[in-house]
Amino acid sequence: MRLLVTGGCGFIGSAVVRRVLRTTDWSVVVLDKLTYAAEPRALEETAADPRYRLVVGDVTDAELLARLFAEYRPDAVLHLAAESHVDRSIDGPEAFLSTNVVGTFRLLEAALAHWRMLSEPERSRFRFHHVSTDEVFGALAPEDAPFRETSPYDPRSPYAASKAAADHLVRAWWHTYGLPVLISNASNNYGPWQFPEKLIPLALTKALAGEPIPVYGRGEQVRDWLHVDDHAAALLAILGRGRVGRTYLVGARAERTNLDLVRTLCAILDELVPNSPHRPHARLIRFVADRPGHDRRYAIDPARLEVELGWRPARSLEEGLRATVAWYLAHRDWLAEMRARYDGRRLGLGGAPTAGAEAAAAGTGRTEPEGTER
Ligand code: NAD
Ligand code: TYD
Repeated sequence: MRLLVTGGCGFIGSAVVRRVLRTTDWSVVVLDKLTYAAEPRALEETAADPRYRLVVGDVTDAELLARLFAEYRPDAVLHLAAESHVDRSIDGPEAFLSTNVVGTFRLLEAALAHWRMLSEPERSRFRFHHVSTDEVFGALAPEDAPFRETSPYDPRSPYAASKAAADHLVRAWWHTYGLPVLISNASNNYGPWQFPEKLIPLALTKALAGEPIPVYGRGEQVRDWLHVDDHAAALLAILGRGRVGRTYLVGARAERTNLDLVRTLCAILDELVPNSPHRPHARLIRFVADRPGHDRRYAIDPARLEVELGWRPARSLEEGLRATVAWYLAHRDWLAEMRARYDGRRLGLGGAPTAGAEAAAAGTGRTEPEGTER
């Protein structure tokens, strides 16, 4: 099997590629633009594997896509390339429309042209798997039932809106042209190699440096946490055995408020770094200005994935967080290096619009803590 993975140098994409090369005999071509969020070193173990190839390029580049499909003739596409950070989408939405919407459209067009040229047996085996997020469903109230595959779309951030648009395009290419698609919507991922702009690696970076750990609002928002390796396993199950045209929701039934989660991270750090001058790390937690339009709660009901495909997460949130903190402690140099790409300044307060995520990477907004946890 020949697999084309877009965004394979990102946090989730690299976990998927590592898993494919470790557990299958497939070959993998990664198409990645290598934006600020990419980390090719996450694929170091695969570099010597003759089944792996990296093509540096943009999913919006139709000519490149046509060449890639013609040369490589993939049996399946796993589409992860995206701008992925909500806060950056607030400061500079344009890159999100370009990559997430136009990029998905161009990839669908290239995949369709390729699929139409295949023999009948190849056509029926081909899959276009679009990797999406639970944020397309909007926000839940504390008492609401978790999202299901039938939940109505209600995206509320520029990021979520761009992913929702992409999901709609993918479904349209299935209904209109018969392209054999799969869609999965996952909850918040955590684990190794996540760029330290997202909550968990950012909180760890700040805590290790003895700096204030910013918690938006009062930390009451709820997220449903999924280890990236459990997500990767789910993606391969869906790609291999999912029903064409179907949507699968991926989550590990692990809801926590942001404040609880950050306190847990601090407690694990206290234990794993007993000689830290910053203990107890929870003292560093600060409440800061809330994210504009901050979604209150996300939660996933993964029953379809569990019942139809037998997927289960391999670890509890507690085990996953402990292993993740240990991983970042063993990669403190990497975290420190990432500060040159993003210095940890507050993003997403909706300052002056920027031309794109690269500009947003320079940082906008304030850093001052606005309150201390009591
Ligand atoms: P990431 O930001 O870590 O990685 C994205 C990758 O895409 C990077 O390697 C980047 O270089 C590449 N990329 C960006 N623009 C590109 C372009 N125009 N052309 C080619 N490559 C480009 O993101 P992630 O967290 O790994 O997320 C991967 C996918 O999973 C995204 O589609 C995201 O919406 C989805 N998702 C993420 C989460 C999460 O919690 N991180 C949860 C659910 C779904
Ligand atoms: P994030 O990792 O950006 O993921 P998403 O916005 O896709 O859920 O944020 C997770 C939660 O943590 C979200 O409710 C916003 C909050 N948050 C903070 O409280 N402080 C921070 O510094 C960041 C980056 C996020």
